[in-house]
Amino acid sequence: MRDQIFSQENDLVDFTFDAQVADVFDDMVRRSVPGYQSMIEMIGLCVKSYGQDNANYYDLGASTGATSIALSVNNPHNNNRIIAIDNSPSMVKKCQHNLAKKIDNANVICADINTIEITNAAIVVLNLTLQFIAPKARQALINSIYQGLNQGGILIVSEKIHFNNAHKQQLMTDLHLDFKRANGYSELEIAAKRQSIENILITDDKKNHFERFKKAGFNASSCHFQCLNFASFLAVK
Ligand SMILES: C[S@@+](CC[C@H](N)C(=O)[O-])C[C@H]1O[C@@H](n2cnc3c(N)ncnc32)[C@H](O)[C@@H]1O
Repeated sequence: MRDQIFSQENDLVDFTFDAQVADVFDDMVRRSVPGYQSMIEMIGLCVKSYGQDNANYYDLGASTGATSIALSVNNPHNNNRIIAIDNSPSMVKKCQHNLAKKIDNANVICADINTIEITNAAIVVLNLTLQFIAPKARQALINSIYQGLNQGGILIVSEKIHFNNAHKQQLMTDLHLDFKRANGYSELEIAAKRQSIENILITDDKKNHFERFKKAGFNASSCHFQCLNFASFLAVK
């Protein structure tokens, strides 16, 4: 279904992942996040190289389940369980519906990822989710993921990022706006969504991400994908 949530002038409220957003999420994310499809494909590549037999794969902030599907269809390993978690009941419902058609080894759980325990994990993915976690809670979440990963396991984090160089920040922001215009969003929709989401989606820069991985204990991390102001990081335990 096409995303037209911000197409009419309405009183602005903070963005939430409610039923209205869940209904249009697949269209919204593809028209708003440059490189989204490639991000998902990279997750598929990583499962081939870093998956492990007899281990869990976690999709944290699963939304409608695109990451879980990539983890499953590209997985050459044996005896794996995909654990998809989201705290939005509307997203969980969509995710359950989408995964039921394609995957027989998934658990879809409605929970706050700040409170769950990660166990026996070969792969944990936070695809466009960490940016919605309160900044002061982010290190604790990455620490607990590190604790739950098996040796050689990986964490993949994809995020909107900012740049401390003002010129680069402006350049990337302008190109991102052009990307949205090219995908059919009007100036009204772009401005309204930005206002609605600005207190909810808090970006880090690349250095913040690398420092957080290191502090948690990851001995290697790199940025393996970037498209404008969106980047994916791979951290190996
Ligand atoms: C941008 S979407 C993620 C997209 C999805 N990972 C993908 O690859 O298509 C962010 C998701 O994180 C979920 N979320 C935000 N905070 C959360 C939390 N504390 N616990 C669980 N899910 C959370 C939201 O409900 C939303 O579905």
